[in-house]
Amino acid sequence: MKALAVFPAKREARVIDHPESRIVSPTEAKMRVLDVGVCGTDREIVDFQYGTPPEGFDYLVIGHESLSEVVEVGPQVSRVKAGDLVVMTVRRPCSHPSCIACREGRQDFCYTGDYTERGIKSRHGYMTEFVVEEERYLNVVPRPLRDIGVLVEPLTIAEKSLEQLGRIQQRLPWASPVEPGVPPGPGRRAVVLGAGPVGLLGAMALRVSGYDVAVYSRSPQHDEQNDIVTAIGARYIAAETHSIDQLAQLAGPIDVVYEATGASGFAFEVIKHLGPNAVFIFTGVPGRKGPIPVDTDRIMRDMVLNNQAIVGSVNAPPHSFEAAINHLGVFVSRWPDAVRALITRRFPIDQALEPLSSGAGGVKNVVAISS
Ligand code: BGC
Repeated sequence: MKALAVFPAKREARVIDHPESRIVSPTEAKMRVLDVGVCGTDREIVDFQYGTPPEGFDYLVIGHESLSEVVEVGPQVSRVKAGDLVVMTVRRPCSHPSCIACREGRQDFCYTGDYTERGIKSRHGYMTEFVVEEERYLNVVPRPLRDIGVLVEPLTIAEKSLEQLGRIQQRLPWASPVEPGVPPGPGRRAVVLGAGPVGLLGAMALRVSGYDVAVYSRSPQHDEQNDIVTAIGARYIAAETHSIDQLAQLAGPIDVVYEATGASGFAFEVIKHLGPNAVFIFTGVPGRKGPIPVDTDRIMRDMVLNNQAIVGSVNAPPHSFEAAINHLGVFVSRWPDAVRALITRRFPIDQALEPLSSGAGGVKNVVAISS
């Protein structure tokens, strides 16, 4: 079957003929892949900066944001059936008995670093025609979300981050409860850095969680993203025309920053403008460039004197996938056009390299493997 693979040693990326997987355990299911989203991680893999082939292979089939349809199930599979739409999680546990996180199914917090990730690290991914996977890694998506279900995985990044944020903010027992429809109270002023899919989905999740949201971004897709941001009741602040100081003036004391750019220098500039008791969440994974000067005295002083917290968040557990599926349903009923506008274009697998090139525009590009 067709698959998009990278050969890191040969520095090649192309559509290959990859052997079709078969169900070998009673708890596995086989899926026909429908849509695979393309993200910055995939672009880095295709640029040979990231990504590791599975043992015994000189190539890695990429793709970790997917929507598939179950076509066959093993005799012990009970939660899904043929015809169901599913999104698969990405990370698989390490094998060290001492890794309590992996042993408890929380490989998103793996201690050893020996986890694997489908389409990224030592396991083939989803940019192919059929995939076999254990039932416990499948999350059922309601049929009405067929056209946008591929957005579930990038939304899980925000879902895990928001859960972490909620846990940290429990330290402020007076903070107003998050209630849909209730105007944001103290502690609910959020800035999202970046208007790519992770940023925009994060902004939507923050809005439905009762936050006042400003999205700060430098982007050639300015108009398109501005429309989406405005439609969800958030404010777009363009980095081309507003400095970080101006952002801080416009946004007011910032309680939460959800970073979704991977631009570290820019992020540390924004840290200087956090309000008292603020939380800054990093989700971007910057490429390693040269060191950048940072005003560490000022940042450390402010962090201590203002009880600020900086937290990194990666990957997501199954309950974040459930939260993302539920939230996507809420988003589409509230802002149907804005949510659909997140998907810019669908490409057939033979043209999959096009959206993987760094010049591919748009918000979220998708490889449509089958319909
Ligand atoms: C994926 C995560 C993964 C991370 C690091 C992201 O693009 O969405 O699932 O853990 O990359 O590899």
